[in-house]
Amino acid sequence: MTQQATDSSRVPSSNIRTPLCERLGIDLPIISAGMGPISGPTLAAAVSNAGGLGVMGCTTMAPEEIRTYIKRCRELTDKPFGVDLILPARLDQSGARVSDVASHIPDEHRALAEHIAQQHGIEHAASNARGPTDDRMALGTDSEAQIEVILDEKVPVFVGALGSPGWMVDRAHEAGTIVMSMVGNVKQAIRVAQDGADVVVAQGTEGGGHTGHVGTMALLPQVLDAVSPTPVVAAGGIGDGRGLAASLVMGCQAVWVGTRFLATEEAGIAGWMKAEIVAAGDQSPIISRSYTGKRFRMLPNEWTKAWDEASIDPLPMPLQPVLVMQTLGGMAGGSSPALTQNGAGNIAGLIEKIVPAAEVVHSMADEAQELLRGWSWQSTRLKSK
Ligand SMILES: Cc1cc2nc3c(=O)[nH]c(=O)nc-3n(C[C@H](O)[C@H](O)[C@H](O)COP(=O)(O)O)c2cc1C
Repeated sequence: MTQQATDSSRVPSSNIRTPLCERLGIDLPIISAGMGPISGPTLAAAVSNAGGLGVMGCTTMAPEEIRTYIKRCRELTDKPFGVDLILPARLDQSGARVSDVASHIPDEHRALAEHIAQQHGIEHAASNARGPTDDRMALGTDSEAQIEVILDEKVPVFVGALGSPGWMVDRAHEAGTIVMSMVGNVKQAIRVAQDGADVVVAQGTEGGGHTGHVGTMALLPQVLDAVSPTPVVAAGGIGDGRGLAASLVMGCQAVWVGTRFLATEEAGIAGWMKAEIVAAGDQSPIISRSYTGKRFRMLPNEWTKAWDEASIDPLPMPLQPVLVMQTLGGMAGGSSPALTQNGAGNIAGLIEKIVPAAEVVHSMADEAQELLRGWSWQSTRLKSK
């Protein structure tokens, strides 16, 4: 690690600083993705302290747990940061408890899940089906209460994934919170821009986690044209300064990076999961619906293989994640290479080692700045757009 890589107070790389950096109050156009419970306060604060914007993934957390994360992040950095949540497709889908959702899981799906779990060392999978987790809200169904905490805490940036944030944008603005929205195609981009999102994050299919069908290189120019003048952030397959430079040249105002930040010292995943990501090649990640019920790019394991080979399909969200929680229990949390979900995108093949998050931020910025010497974001925007 170089001195430069750890020095967060160095002079910002001015030729890659975009109007969105000004608006967010950050030096470098690099945002670490909100990723489930993986991108916690430690990672987010490290990225913000390095000059980017760190975003915490809080989807799986109860509202008061989110408040604790926000307070912890504020202890670790005085810089701007964000909170990311998966939003429901419609607000009337809110409010389902795990126990309500569980009653709709067909017996054959429960039997398959328990069979796979038992094959890999969970002897009494059935006993996981009734537990304290049953009183929690199901994945993506507690958004209103989660948002209350985020706005009450006046978090600088909120990022909504899957559903449109239109129902909370006005209140967010009253609280001084900038709203970003994740999209995977042009139709979604137009919808969230019309619904008032301040920034559109366009993620190509090669990205880790939930993912659409359109590749980043095809998606970005189309989303840029469709939502102009709303700022667009590029996501999906960006892991070094070349990806950052290409995104800026295209007209995007920042990059949103997930997989590259998983292989950092601060990422909240087990060591073996980071090692798998470092060892992965470009074709290693697959798309599976077997954890969340939606298309999720990840490294394959025994759970994904068994669902691929089964005669029944995974259930839709929120049924499948409830089945996973009840069947795998703690195994879902990083303790089993056979059963734990290890999300990663195709850029994993580029990652050679685990480094501090600040080193990722600074090496990306330095490389992009070098590639773009003499260039400035404003000067090369297409005048016709
Ligand atoms: C393990 C994992 C978990 C993720 N969880 C979330 C999430 O909770 N919310 C979200 O908006 N995006 C989530 N994503 C997607 C990222 O925000 C981001 O769009 C994606 O990682 C970008 O592509 P990349 O992985 O090629 O950098 C997740 C991605 C990964 C790899």
